Amino acid sequence: MPDPQKMSIDEIIAACHAADGEGAPATEPEVEAEAAPAQKPAPAKSDPPQKLDPAKMSVEEMLAAARGGGGEAESSAAAEEEVAAEEEESAEATPSAPAAKLDRGKMSVEEMLAAARGQGQAPLAKEAGKRAKKPAAKKAAKPAAKGKSEPSGPLDTASVLAAARKGAKRGPISKTEAAEQEKASGKKTKPSAPPMPEKPAYARAAPPAESDSEDRRGFIASIMGAFLGSSLAIGFSSLTVTNILWTLGLARFMFPNILTEPPTVFKVGFPDEYAPGQVQSKYKAQFGVWIVRDEYEGEAQIFALKSVCTHLGCTPNWLESEQKFKCPCHGSGFYKDGVNFEGPAPRPLERYVIRFAADGQLEVDKSRKFNEELGQWKDEACFVPVS
Ligand code: FES
Repeated sequence: MPDPQKMSIDEIIAACHAADGEGAPATEPEVEAEAAPAQKPAPAKSDPPQKLDPAKMSVEEMLAAARGGGGEAESSAAAEEEVAAEEEESAEATPSAPAAKLDRGKMSVEEMLAAARGQGQAPLAKEAGKRAKKPAAKKAAKPAAKGKSEPSGPLDTASVLAAARKGAKRGPISKTEAAEQEKASGKKTKPSAPPMPEKPAYARAAPPAESDSEDRRGFIASIMGAFLGSSLAIGFSSLTVTNILWTLGLARFMFPNILTEPPTVFKVGFPDEYAPGQVQSKYKAQFGVWIVRDEYEGEAQIFALKSVCTHLGCTPNWLESEQKFKCPCHGSGFYKDGVNFEGPAPRPLERYVIRFAADGQLEVDKSRKFNEELGQWKDEACFVPVS
């Protein structure tokens, strides 16, 4: 048996005839090739194209039929379309072996050559799949192209996926798959997520040293304590000072202002301390009184004159050199006994009560006044007679 890869086209066709069981000798094609043109009737233009038996075709007829020449040239395209439709239908019915049943009279040159070289049905199936453009045939031919073992069963999507999932399941499974597994095994399986990958070392923070962390904690605590302590101390000190001030203000409010006036009754010493004609001014500043020892209407007396001008209330001065009281405001003048003699003052100065105290001293009482123009100076309450 010669190598099919090294056979010529004639030898291949002869081998095809021999494989079909016709038992024709190798030299028969040459005889038929000579007789065939004479025996072949010329087809009429109106007659439908005749289908020749490939077993009885000569080499030239077969080549002509294969190349689409001769009287079958017009019908070859339609025949190919019909073949494609039939192959598609047959591929849907039996997708694993559609090309084995192809009519050799309708085979192309490549199909015939492939069949003659004994390359099996895979190329035919591949060619038929290409013509039919069937997805199932493509999927069935894909594992064969990748070098995997060709599945013996139907190559539909469900079977391919089931075959792929026969091994260990990778990753999480769906609820449907879990239910199927649960039903098959009889145990309840809970779908679980894959474990999280471990955190890489460079992403993990290095734990601080024991001594460093303690020092840092102590330092932060001291800073916070000083800050908070000083702030709290300042706040509480301010609050305390404010409370003290408020308390003092409230206490001062509870004690109203009081005018500290000198007492209206006071002692001015013994009578013998005053010389005749003397004006004592030392009580003027504190009590507003002059103590005078002088004569009034021929009687020696000690009396107390009020140091207020009867004009508009100014305080006159005793002028020792002039022996008179002189008002600095408008120039009113008063004698030593208090009678006005110059200036705008309308009346004499006023007197207070003077008497002897229990201890023998002279005592002045300012609660009562005596006016000369009213004749009150004759009252014994406003003078102390002296010898
Ligand atoms: Fe003394 Fe006017 S007040 S003279």
